[in-house]
Order: sequence, then C-alpha cells, then structure tokens
Amino acid sequence: MSLSRDEFFASTERQGLALTFDDVRLATAQSKVSTREVDLTSYFSRNIKLGVPLVSAAMDTVTTADMAIAMAKLGGLGVLHAGLTPEQQAKEARRVKHELNAVIKDPITFSAELTLGDILSECDRRQLKFRTFPITDNDGRFVGLLTQNDFDFSLGNSALAVEAAMTPAHDVVTGTPDTNMHKAFAVMREHGKKTLPLLTEDGKVSALYVLSDVVRSLAGNPERHNLDDSGRLLVAAAVPTDEGALERIEAMGDYLDVIVVDSAQGDSYFAFQALRLIKDTYPDLDVVVGNISSSESAVALADAGADGIKVGQGPGSICTTRIETGIGSPQVSAVYECVQAIKGSGVPICADGGIVNRGDVSLAIAAGASSVMMGGQLAGTKEAPGEVTSHNGAMVKLYRGMGSASAMRDSEASRKRYGVDSSTSTPLPEGVESYVPYKGPVDDVVNQLIMALRKSMSYVGSPDIETHRTETRFLRVTNAGMAESRPHDVTVIQR
Ligand code: XMP
Repeated sequence: MSLSRDEFFASTERQGLALTFDDVRLATAQSKVSTREVDLTSYFSRNIKLGVPLVSAAMDTVTTADMAIAMAKLGGLGVLHAGLTPEQQAKEARRVKHELNAVIKDPITFSAELTLGDILSECDRRQLKFRTFPITDNDGRFVGLLTQNDFDFSLGNSALAVEAAMTPAHDVVTGTPDTNMHKAFAVMREHGKKTLPLLTEDGKVSALYVLSDVVRSLAGNPERHNLDDSGRLLVAAAVPTDEGALERIEAMGDYLDVIVVDSAQGDSYFAFQALRLIKDTYPDLDVVVGNISSSESAVALADAGADGIKVGQGPGSICTTRIETGIGSPQVSAVYECVQAIKGSGVPICADGGIVNRGDVSLAIAAGASSVMMGGQLAGTKEAPGEVTSHNGAMVKLYRGMGSASAMRDSEASRKRYGVDSSTSTPLPEGVESYVPYKGPVDDVVNQLIMALRKSMSYVGSPDIETHRTETRFLRVTNAGMAESRPHDVTVIQR
C-alpha cells in the first residue's frame, strides 16, 4: 500500500531527504480514464490559461517567435528570452501576435478625399503588401471599403478618386467591436464577403477581419491553439530584474500577455522590486517570478503579488549552479514544498528545468506544478534559434545555459540573471554550452510529450491536471528500481 502524496513527502522531509525525478515513480491505480479523455488544460499564471501544461524556456537557444508560435499553436506557451534587446523582443512578440492575425486592430485607414495613386504611393513608402483599407471621412468615420478588386478594376487609373472606386459604407457588411473570430467567419460566409470591418457606435473603425487570415487561423487544428480574446496566439516574455523591465513591457505593449521576471535567485531584493514596479505600472498584466526552490520564497512571492511562480534552481540540463555554489533543492521536492506552502493562494507554480525523460513532466505535475518549463527537450528543434551544424558526423544545434560564459558575454540580461555586475571582468559561469541532436519540427517533440503525459494520467486514473496535481501517489525508487525501469539486458536496436 503506497503512502498518500502528503504522507510520502512528509516522511522524506523528516529524513532531510530531497528527491528528484529519477528518485520517484507514480503508483498506478484502477483507472476509468482513457488517454483521449484526459483534460490537459491548466494555468501558467492566475489568468493565463494553457491548453497543455508545457512552456518553452526563456533561453536564447530555445525561444524566439518561431518557438513561441509553435508552442502556442500546440496549446502551450513560449517565453521570449531577455537576451534580445527591447526592440528585438518587441519585434518577436509582434511576430507571434501577427501569426494568425485573425483580427487586425486599428487597421490602416485612408481618407475618402485621396486618389488611388495617393494610396499606392503610400503603400510603396510603407512597404505595405496588402490592399484592403477602410476609408474614412474627416471625422474618422467609416464611409467605405477599398480592396484589391477596386485597384484592379481601375485599370491603373491612378487619378481615380477613392470615393468613386470604393464600395460605399451602406453596401459593406460590418460587425460590432466584440465580434470574435468564429462569429466573423460565420458572417463573412453568410454574406460571401472577404472582409469584415468592425465599427464602434459612433461609426469609427476599431478592427478588421480579413477572410484569408481567419481561414488560416481556423484551419489546421485551431481548437488546440492557445489564444487571447482577439484570437491571437498567447505569448510571454522574460525581463531582467531592473528598471529595463518597464522599457521592455512598454515596447511590447499590446503584443504581450504575461511577463516573467527572470532571475537565478527569484527571492532577491531586485526580483521583488521588479515585481512591485511592474504591478504598480501594469496592474492588469500577469507577472510570473522565478526562480526559487524553497517554501519560504514561495510564500514571500505569493504575498508580494506574483501571479505565478517558477520553481527550479539548478535542475536544468545545462546548469552548473548547484555544482559551482552548492545550493538548490532537487526538483521534485522543491516543487512539492513550494506548492504546499502556497496552497489555496491561487498562484500556479511552473516547474522549470530538469525534464530529461518524457515521464518527468507527469512527475512534476504530480508534485503539484501547474505547468512545466523546458529548455533541453525543445532545444535542437527546427524552431529553436540557431543553425544546424555537423559535429562528429551528426546534425546538431547549439544549446547553452543563459549563465554560460558565452551567453553572459553576449547579453546584459544573462549577466543580470546571474547577478554579475559590469565591474566583474571574469564572471563565474553557472551553465555550459552544449550540442544537442537536431530533432526536426518541434510539433513532433511536443506531441510525444503530450501523449506521454496523457498515458501517465490514464495509468494513474487522473482525468485532469487538478486531480493529477493533488491526488497522485508517489513511490520512492532505488537505483536498482530505476535500472529495472529502463531497457536492460538487451541490445536496443530501435527506440
Ligand atoms: P532544461 O533542463 O529544460 O532546463 O534544459 C532549462 C532551464 O534551466 C535554467 N537555466 C539555467 N540554470 N545555469 C543554470 O543554473 C544556466 O546557465 C541556465 N540557463 C538556463 C532555466 O531556468 C531554464 O528554463
């Protein structure tokens, strides 16, 4: 008979033991849950929902826009790394938000008093590729719609007045500002229209749907996409623990859903200061703070208003923090302790780092995490930044710790993450630089992780993440037990 989860961890704590993934397994139970039925929805922070509890790490060899787009399309989330300049980070955030572009907020409009030639020169000047524009009067009110067809039918007559070429407002189907993507699609289909301007009560253009974008957004597997209220992919961004955080948030503006205050020591004066500064300036923006690994730190951060907390000091595959400094708690115990300490607060915990085998995701969640952040699992994929190179005859990509010597040399944010000030000429690295095999598209990697989690939850009978987080039973395994868990006494010819 296995102990309940709380009894299990209480007993390890009494012995002064801290455990990590390979120290434990989950006890199976009679299960009525099939892998297909398992509900993987969860939260990264108080208000940021996840379709699957998987988050890509804020690392310069893991997450820029390509990874964030892929993760959000699969139901997860990507955290844009802070090694980018504020401008670059804002550009990447914009790319994620424009990927589906189902709704174009504040679309470019032109005055009815112009000619087609005026508009074409403006398009050239601003390098605009599209030709669909709401047309407005001098008070900014919608008076008509100009599309590519109108340019084509003008036969190159650039002197033609916009007013004469456009479809007048009374012939244009429009919607109200609260029209969501599905409603927009239904209206466009009903009326056979390729464009749907959304108008405010006083007739101003608040947004625009374009059919091709809506179709692209709805095609594929849209029900898996992790979307904001406007039908755009969700995206997170990391910021260092200094005033630069505000500059970054301002630059990202509406292209950002949740901020991650990113430090190797999340229970520091600077991290709390950054949290306060951001919450005071942007009270509606969810702020996740990390990293920590003790119950006292979790309580302090939750009390200070963090909307999410990231746990993990040194479990990462490229980390040397524990080796260099002797600190840090093995990850499963760290997650459990922090989750227990803030039980009932509504602040979700993200288990960051150390996912080596796919089953570790399930273990992290069973220890109480609401989501799991990964670097090594996702590094080396097509969407991870960096080129594919050859090393000893194998196709590889670079994966480096943000505290590695080269990352700290390249980025102020990395130095800040590891508390290195500008006067330190030879900072002590807390991470390594490595090669990982080239893995192809990240979809395959993430889909396998999702399937492994579904299977694990089905084995133990957890229908959803909340049950898995709270009711799973742990078993302590020995080295012999782990050896038995892996293929043994055979020559593996295929994995
Ligand atoms: P995995 O195991 O998924 O871990 O590769 C990714 C997480 O590791 C953290 N990280 C570091 N920790 N030195 C450290 O001690 C480093 O140089 C370093 N770089 C990243 C980070 O939390 C990341 O999400």
